[in-house]
Amino acid sequence: NVLILDFGSQYTQLIARRVRELNIYCEIHPFHKVPEELSGFKAVILSGSPFSVRNEDAPHPDLSKIRGVVPILAVCYGAQYFAHFHGGKVEASEIREYGRANLSVIKDHEPLFANIRENSQVWMSHSDTIKELPTNAVRLASTSDILNAAYRIEGEQTFAIQFHPEVYHSKDGKQLLENFLVKICGVEQSWTPGAFVDLTVSELKEKIGDDKVVLGLSGGVDSSVAAVLLHQAIGKNLYCIFVNNGLLRKDEFESVLHQYQDMGLNVKGVDASARFLGALAGISDPELKRKAIGNTFIEVFDDEAHEITDVTYLAQGTIYPDVIESISVNGPSVTIKSHHNVGGLPDFMKLKVVEPLRMLFKDEVRRVGAELEIDPELLGRHPFPGPGLAIRILGDITEEKVRILQEVDHIFIQGLRDAMLYDKVWQAGAILLPVQSVGVMGDERTYEQVVALRAVESTDGMTADWVNLPYEFLQKTSNAIINRVKGVNRVVYDISSKPPATIEWE
Ligand code: XMP
Repeated sequence: NVLILDFGSQYTQLIARRVRELNIYCEIHPFHKVPEELSGFKAVILSGSPFSVRNEDAPHPDLSKIRGVVPILAVCYGAQYFAHFHGGKVEASEIREYGRANLSVIKDHEPLFANIRENSQVWMSHSDTIKELPTNAVRLASTSDILNAAYRIEGEQTFAIQFHPEVYHSKDGKQLLENFLVKICGVEQSWTPGAFVDLTVSELKEKIGDDKVVLGLSGGVDSSVAAVLLHQAIGKNLYCIFVNNGLLRKDEFESVLHQYQDMGLNVKGVDASARFLGALAGISDPELKRKAIGNTFIEVFDDEAHEITDVTYLAQGTIYPDVIESISVNGPSVTIKSHHNVGGLPDFMKLKVVEPLRMLFKDEVRRVGAELEIDPELLGRHPFPGPGLAIRILGDITEEKVRILQEVDHIFIQGLRDAMLYDKVWQAGAILLPVQSVGVMGDERTYEQVVALRAVESTDGMTADWVNLPYEFLQKTSNAIINRVKGVNRVVYDISSKPPATIEWE
């Protein structure tokens, strides 16, 4: 087990990603909450930080419990931290130290640099520089601009590097992390989906015992994988509720419900479409739509949960990026759209929360899902927002608009599947615009709706770019939509990236 102490760097999550890619389990903790019990950790990595160590407000944690006890790899800020507080010197650098640099290794026999190429490209991102090394430190590597690019402290397993091994542009960064974790710290590379499933199922059994658990299924990857894991652990004591909010894709409620039943899950489908549409009537503001849907969901879910007697736990499909966001050093980032589910349902439900995926990244959830033999089609499904088509219908929502958008979306998504493009796209969907435009069909003038198609590539939804779908595909899709969906006479394709746009229009 590896501990990553977060000093607020934008790259902290990436460190965790790289470590997990080495099949090594790790956890991120904020620097001011160092776990009391350290005996389970075989290595500690200190992240970078947006702060300067010379600044009084910067994180200045007490690392005395760790240093000399558990091996440390200090990245960027951490390297400066030791220099600043333990006999070295850190100053603002005269030249900008951002971007690529080439590493020249001085101590060739140092295991940290085993199998790392001479002049290996590394990525720098810092404005302070280490002028003098801390007490007892030995320089390990330099670059043409930076004398102290890496050092270690003699007599202890403390290593420090000024560059960022976690970013893709540090070509041998993963090798360096492997050297540190495996060669130096002796950490086992045993974090595999199979190991995760075995461990989690036995932990869930132990924790839950004979208690009952209720879980809301959404049709998405996370809640489905969470359900199957829990099902393996506690079988029929898992009660799943799948709510139709009337804003799902065409026919999705029925088909996904059957799929869940075929998987052996104890699932109840609840069609609450009318209740949601009622709650949304007349609302155009995106955040108010989200609130109305969120509140209605809570009401419906609560009603259903009350039908099950003696429930103790509420299970959720929360995954690691949500968790990290809610505990990060600088506090949760500004709410651009209120779509984070961490914190769960309100207290009145009085249930204990169980979140079997809270330590996994999205791609790991998929791998665990594959290990559990969940249908690849379900696992490969594009992300779909909780408020569903409500935030893809700009302006107020009516049953008719939902019907139109479901038809359009279906033609687009089925088209992507038929053209073998579905898996090349991270997320796709259609947006119904509150705009009518003039058209002509036969000899008639029409005045009908405009729809926008959106398809993006992304890895995590944080940034995204539009996909260059083939013109022939767009042509065919546009034709099919206009000919088959009554009420639509114009189709446009969204060519905006995120940032500055977002993936959804609301
Ligand atoms: P944006 O539009 O913020 O979307 O670029 C990023 C990702 O988040 C999804 N999204 C939501 N998911 N509830 C959700 O569960 C929401 O309110 C919500 N809004 C956006 C969006 O589909 C994309 O995958």
